[in-house]
Amino acid sequence: MAFINVNTKLVGLLGNPLGHSFSPAMQNIAFETQGLNYYYLPIEVTAENLADVVKGISKMNFAGFNVTIPHKLNIMKFLDEIDDLAELIGAVNTVTIKDGRLKGYNTDGIGFVRSLEEETNVTVKGSIVFILGSGGASRSIAMAMAFKGANKVYLCNRTVEKAMDLTKEINSKIRDCSIALPMVKSEMLRPLKETAIFINTTSVGMHPNEGDTPIESSLLHEGMIVSDIIYNPLKTRLLLEAEQRGCKTLKGLGMLVYQGAEAFKLWTGIDAPAEKMWEVLTAKKQ
Ligand code: ATR
Repeated sequence: MAFINVNTKLVGLLGNPLGHSFSPAMQNIAFETQGLNYYYLPIEVTAENLADVVKGISKMNFAGFNVTIPHKLNIMKFLDEIDDLAELIGAVNTVTIKDGRLKGYNTDGIGFVRSLEEETNVTVKGSIVFILGSGGASRSIAMAMAFKGANKVYLCNRTVEKAMDLTKEINSKIRDCSIALPMVKSEMLRPLKETAIFINTTSVGMHPNEGDTPIESSLLHEGMIVSDIIYNPLKTRLLLEAEQRGCKTLKGLGMLVYQGAEAFKLWTGIDAPAEKMWEVLTAKKQ
């Protein structure tokens, strides 16, 4: 661990509760690997203290901070500037501090896109994407996909109204590329046939329900990229079945690594050691 001194640039993680977070271990190894005098510090903060903590941080030697549950929306009112994609998503998970000015970003969706492009050699631009789920994670990913030029973004949700709302927002704010679908097999068949990238953003299949899967595997086809943002278990039933169908698969840990790598770049201006971050997370998960 780096020696902390008066020149150490701090980076915080603001959330409540923080017990389970992998970010401190991942970011501190990343700083050390790149020889940077930075230190990542978890700071548990309640909603009522958020304003005071942010004000204090902005006067100290902080390069920025991450924001997690429950502050991703509330933090926005304390910032001087918000990046375009974060504004579209309507939530911030990363803040930079430069000359006392706070700028908010959202690296979740873009982290997912990077994980996808680096691990599978696919390009989001021009591709047909099918996203299962329309909650918070889906929102970041769907917006990033549209922002990055996906040809079509199908949004399929158990509560179809939520998919329709998100679709409307994407089509009006970014580009007319999104189509809402109910989670009904007959409606999903044709869109899935033309899908190149399938992403599960629902919690179906997450520990302790490893036996569950969000989609019948007969709907997946050979050559399709199948991705699950769940990282507990590392390989979900969806991914195991997709492999058997001849799909390329992408594990959820990648999104966690690359949202962190994108934030690292914003704070330090240099590329993050993504492979090292992978190693740390994989070791922690075993
Ligand atoms: P997150 O922030 O992780 O995206 P969320 O906002 O609570 O979490 O969203 C959870 C998503 O998983 C939603 O799309 C939810 O569907 P509904 O909008 O219909 O609730 C989906 N989901 C959760 N459990 C599900 C289940 N058993 N079957 C299908 N979809 C499910």
